[in-house]
Amino acid sequence: NQLTQLRSVLLFAAACVCHTAARYTPDWTSLDARPLPSWYDEAKLGIFIHWGVFSVPGFGSEWFWWHWQGEQPPDRACVDYMSKNYPPGFSYPEFAPHFHAQFFDPEEWADIFKASGAKYVVLTAKHHEGFTNWESPNSWNWNSVDTGPHRDLVGDLGEAVRSRSLHYGLYNSLYEWFHPLYLFDKKNGFKTQKYVMQKLLPELYNMIVRYKPEVLWSDGDWEAPDTYWNSTEFLAWLYNDSPVKDTVVTNDRWGAGCGCKHGGYYNCDDKYTPGHLVKHKWEKCTSVDTLSWGYRRNMKLSEMMPLPTIIVDLVQTVALGGNYLLNVGPTPDGMIPTLFEERLRGVGAWLDINGEAIYASKPWRVQAENSTIPVWYTSKGTTVYAIMTAKPPNPKLKLLKPKTSAATKVTLLGNPKPLSWSPVQPSGGIVVQLPELPYTPGQAWTLKLENIQ
Ligand SMILES: *[C@@H]1O[C@H](CO)[C@@H](O)[C@H](O)[C@H]1NC(C)=O
Ligand SMILES: *[C@@H]1O[C@H](CO)[C@@H](O)[C@H](O)[C@H]1NC(C)=O
Repeated sequence: NQLTQLRSVLLFAAACVCHTAARYTPDWTSLDARPLPSWYDEAKLGIFIHWGVFSVPGFGSEWFWWHWQGEQPPDRACVDYMSKNYPPGFSYPEFAPHFHAQFFDPEEWADIFKASGAKYVVLTAKHHEGFTNWESPNSWNWNSVDTGPHRDLVGDLGEAVRSRSLHYGLYNSLYEWFHPLYLFDKKNGFKTQKYVMQKLLPELYNMIVRYKPEVLWSDGDWEAPDTYWNSTEFLAWLYNDSPVKDTVVTNDRWGAGCGCKHGGYYNCDDKYTPGHLVKHKWEKCTSVDTLSWGYRRNMKLSEMMPLPTIIVDLVQTVALGGNYLLNVGPTPDGMIPTLFEERLRGVGAWLDINGEAIYASKPWRVQAENSTIPVWYTSKGTTVYAIMTAKPPNPKLKLLKPKTSAATKVTLLGNPKPLSWSPVQPSGGIVVQLPELPYTPGQAWTLKLENIQ
């Protein structure tokens, strides 16, 4: 009867809950088997923000401190820059009081990110310099509340971002170039864990509980093995017991040799461009400023990614199964340089029309073809999106990969009229009669092909 049926359904549901609530153990076999929360693959586009004390010198890149005083021999340009422009003996921490963020309006930033079409935002909570953009009790006097902006940057941006229904993520560097305890452990060949136990882990647990990020973007792992960082123990907690256990995603930077192999989604290298379909979920992080992630006062227009380049990069990444994390570096006074804003709004304008081919799409059985112009494919079931990344030389576009049927329907996104088409051969291929392609600063157009094999 119905009641027994209902009971068995409920029992079945309860069994499923128990099953998904299975606990992860602190080893890669268990952790790597965790299914990635589905919001992440559907989101496709995120905005990355590199902001910290390094934004104050704004010279070279966010690696300025290391290039100036860490690496041996030091970078000539950085040393000269300091000796020419600052008094002798000026130290890096003296830049912190000049990190004013006096124009920082998190609502304005979040409006720009929303307008970019991104679905998540990842801010540097702490970069390799060790400065935290929140009041970390483990980073006394080297955080954005004790000095500089005197403000909880991580918390304030998080509220604004979330109020626009964007997911909020935090970047965290495991290592700190000059932390005395880290240098102590390093000298001991990472056989001691003073830095990890006294600084890194207490801070990281605290950060997760306070801000509940849905992306934990780990970095700075490469000098030491994951056993030094206690990565598997931390991740088991993150996935089993943390306040974000069901929604959080992480990347693969959890110890030397982990990249492209362990963790959540794969970043592999910065600006990873595999050129082929990757079976594991991955993300390409890249920067509008091709030479830096942090703000540079000496950036030039010719060093910026043009909008059509960004669009093709996004399209190619999504067609190959990746997410695209596009970086901007705000100024120390809290402004997003207008050129970055213009790029982000340009991506959003393109997505307003073409987003259907991007969000929640899946790679198709063929990822690209180049019979007349480069075309990238994405799909949703039997609907296939052919994204043209150049203007075809004539209005009859031939595509060899799609297999049509009598039910096939073709439209250009942004243009409601169905387009006429004919098969190339009974076995496959389609010739589409294109309308005049509308102007788009993104220089890419999407054909929606319905009922395709
Ligand atoms: C670090 O890992 C060791 C085992 O490798 C474990 O005993 C210890 O509790 C872990 N500490 C933290 C803070 O995760
Ligand atoms: C497509 O073909 C053109 C001309 O042969 C070539 O320049 C271009 O690199 C190709 N693009 C891709 C994505 O393969």
